[in-house]
Amino acid sequence: MSASGEYLMFYRSFGGPKMTVSIDCFKRGMRQLASGVSVVTSRFEDNLAGMTVTAVASLSAEPPKLLVCLNRAGQTFDMVRQSRIMCVNILSAEQTELAAAFARSSENKFAGCDWDIAKTGAPIIREAAVSFDCRIDNIIDAGTHGIVIGEILDIIIAEEANCLVYKNGQYGTLMMKTG
Ligand SMILES: Cc1cc2nc3c(=O)[nH]c(=O)nc-3n(C[C@H](O)[C@H](O)[C@H](O)COP(=O)(O)O)c2cc1C
Repeated sequence: MSASGEYLMFYRSFGGPKMTVSIDCFKRGMRQLASGVSVVTSRFEDNLAGMTVTAVASLSAEPPKLLVCLNRAGQTFDMVRQSRIMCVNILSAEQTELAAAFARSSENKFAGCDWDIAKTGAPIIREAAVSFDCRIDNIIDAGTHGIVIGEILDIIIAEEANCLVYKNGQYGTLMMKTG
């Protein structure tokens, strides 16, 4: 056996690396990750729910799917699980107040915003840069959060919208490099 193989066996016999990352360190690291800001909405019977999220990713083009990571303790997660529909609204640069409102826990988050009903029945936020209307394909439990996979049934794209960005606790917009 090679020296590195011996070392690997020794290393494994002690159970591999110890987890030493603190929550505070995790948060400080993640604050450096600049992300687009979205509001995930859902509707079940006459009730609406929605929350601000940055954890959104494209999953596949064929079939068109995306994923969002939602806290399982929140009202929106509960409604998405029940209704099996959601709309992922990528916010435009002018929608900072909306992002802040949908990040608070409140009974009536939709009062200050204009919305329409998407094909699935979920609320589409007007003037969002783009809205992805989804049927829920799968929900994977991941500790405090659920990884929600949506199959995209419709896409509503605004003309030339600049997107809202979040980094280090602050909202901003992108300035693209030219040349
Ligand atoms: C900029 C920003 C991004 C956020 N991203 C997420 C996210 O990706 N996933 C999540 O579960 N919560 C996220 N949150 C927290 C939720 O928006 C917040 O807990 C919300 O009040 C949940 O609403 P609900 O309980 O009505 O569903 C974010 C908050 C902010 C301000």
